[in-house]
Amino acid sequence: MVDRRKALKVVAGVTSAAAVGVAVFPAAALVAAAANTPPLPGRPPGGDEGWYAVARWDDLVVGTPLQAHIVGAEVDAWKVSPDRRIGTVWLLRRGEDTASLRALSAVCPHLGCVIEHNATGFVCPCHVSDFSPTGAALRGPSPRSMDSIESRVREGRVEVRWARFRLGTAERIREEG
Ligand code: FES
Repeated sequence: MVDRRKALKVVAGVTSAAAVGVAVFPAAALVAAAANTPPLPGRPPGGDEGWYAVARWDDLVVGTPLQAHIVGAEVDAWKVSPDRRIGTVWLLRRGEDTASLRALSAVCPHLGCVIEHNATGFVCPCHVSDFSPTGAALRGPSPRSMDSIESRVREGRVEVRWARFRLGTAERIREEG
């Protein structure tokens, strides 16, 4: 009888430990996964105004531009819509050093179409403006080169400070809001 009670206690103990393991392990795995995976895209942690995480540094290949979207809140006269695509950039990695990062707005300075990447650099398909691999205006109606966007690398995340610029002007004029 005593041996049977002991055996029951052992079984109860093993079952409890297994239950705790089932409950704790997935939570620990999630914490580990969260630590290894920066949240993308969106606002970086810390609430840095105007900065958005758009990619991981390790995802960028030297010499191959990567298109990335800025996701954030869209505000109009009536409402705030969260998680909207509010902009697009081309990310250029020119070497191993994170200081080699450069970001260019994908908004064409002519009338605002999305600039694409091609074999010779960049092109706006709307009215065929050509840009060099570094974004310099070469041909077509675009009145200026592709607009640079402030960028940085923090804890493996590529972050950009999104901005819009006036369309149709040779001078680069930042739009407010
Ligand atoms: S909008 Fe890009 S060339 Fe016209």
